[in-house]
Amino acid sequence: MLAFWWRPLMIFLGLALVSIALAIAFSTTLGCAFFSAVLFVYLLYHIYHLHKLSNWLAAPVDALLQGDGAWGDVFYRLAKLLRGQQAEQQKALADLEQMHEATRHLPDGVVILDDDNRINWLNDAAEHLLGLSQNRDAGQFVLYLMRNSRFSEWLHQEDFTRRLTIEASGARGKTVSLQLISLPREQKMLVARDITDIARVDTMRRDFVANVSHELRTPITVIVGFLEAFEDMPDADPAQLRKHIPLMRAQSDRIRRLVDDLLTLARLESEPETKDETVDMVSLAQRLAREAESLSQGKHQIELKLDNQARLIGNSQELYSALANLVSNAVRYTPANGLIRIKWGLLETGEQTFSVQDSGEGIDPQHIPRLTERFYRVDQGRSRATGGTGLGLAIVKHVLQRHQAKLRVESTVGKGSTFSAVFPTERVIPEIASTLESESESAA
Ligand SMILES: Nc1ncnc2c1ncn2[C@@H]1O[C@H](COP(=O)(O)OP(=O)(O)OP(=O)(O)O)[C@@H](O)[C@H]1O
Ligand SMILES: [Mg+2]
Repeated sequence: MLAFWWRPLMIFLGLALVSIALAIAFSTTLGCAFFSAVLFVYLLYHIYHLHKLSNWLAAPVDALLQGDGAWGDVFYRLAKLLRGQQAEQQKALADLEQMHEATRHLPDGVVILDDDNRINWLNDAAEHLLGLSQNRDAGQFVLYLMRNSRFSEWLHQEDFTRRLTIEASGARGKTVSLQLISLPREQKMLVARDITDIARVDTMRRDFVANVSHELRTPITVIVGFLEAFEDMPDADPAQLRKHIPLMRAQSDRIRRLVDDLLTLARLESEPETKDETVDMVSLAQRLAREAESLSQGKHQIELKLDNQARLIGNSQELYSALANLVSNAVRYTPANGLIRIKWGLLETGEQTFSVQDSGEGIDPQHIPRLTERFYRVDQGRSRATGGTGLGLAIVKHVLQRHQAKLRVESTVGKGSTFSAVFPTERVIPEIASTLESESESAA
């Protein structure tokens, strides 16, 4: 403070002393005139600097003010203060810009609304999910743009704890969960989260429980029906009753198969990886061909074609259950006298494949993408009649996925189908390597 004040103070004291000296030496009038004149000049000097300061304050971005003495000090301090403020302002702006960018690219849709529910700002995801546009819709009432009675009721309630699930107005087939968050200055943030996958899983879970219940109900009803009838016939002839046992047994087998398949699926889903071993695919194909013969009971011509002796790195139990399903399907969905060709070999593309070709009824193309869905059957009655649970190809899909293999289905209605399991080369031990290996094994 002293540094700031000492100069004017010293000037004032100096002026007073000189004026007094003049008054003593010459005359009081001269002393007073000198004092007034210098004071006037000094006043002009301050007025000039005040004027400069006033102009500069009106537009402080201009070049720094120059001044000397006390004014130099004032200008220097002001400039320093301004520089500090500008730096802080720039940092706050950069932070704000960063927040803005981050919010813009959030996967959730964000819409900032004012207290009248007009749109202030929205991000890219909100444009995509809710079909809004920052350029077109800023300042518009959101209720005019998102016309949905449940949405308007929910928005008017302003219950910040309740979420709303609706179809996304901007993205067909998507489901969004909406949430309102209160913001300062009477603003609100509308957050839209894409929950399509969660909703789909939820629907699948509900369908699955409904399907399992439905599949179990029929055989259980049959068995319970028989048991109730037996109860109502205390004096019935046991030989008469025994006649119904095969049907009851078939229904029990059906329940057991269903539970077994469900447990297999559950196990495949819960165990993340297969326990790998070397699978002798030639023996497996031969075993499956024998089983096809026995299932067919001589009604079909079964052919086995082995192009090579390649082996697979995989789980033999899982591969057996998956490939056995392809074979049993071929037998069950091919009328008598049909041809079934089981093949282990190379495709033209060089991929190692296990395929089952039949000359059966074939499958309409519309059904093919859905065949691996649980409980999906092309012909419900037919599948049930042949003892099918509709879970076979779902198990195939899972097993093949666990072996990084693909299921390929080619089919022509009335001509037949070919189901192929195509394995990746990393899982194949080619014939030459296997032969060399077995040679070295026998040498050892
Ligand atoms: N080779 C085939 N020819 C014609 N249709 C087939 C063939 N393989 C499968 N399908 C159709 O695909 C449906 C699904 O087959 P999937 O193996 O999953 O079930 P399923 O055979 O009915 O029962 P499961 O295999 O559980 O005993 C079958 O119901 C059938 O309609
Ligand atoms: Mg099947």
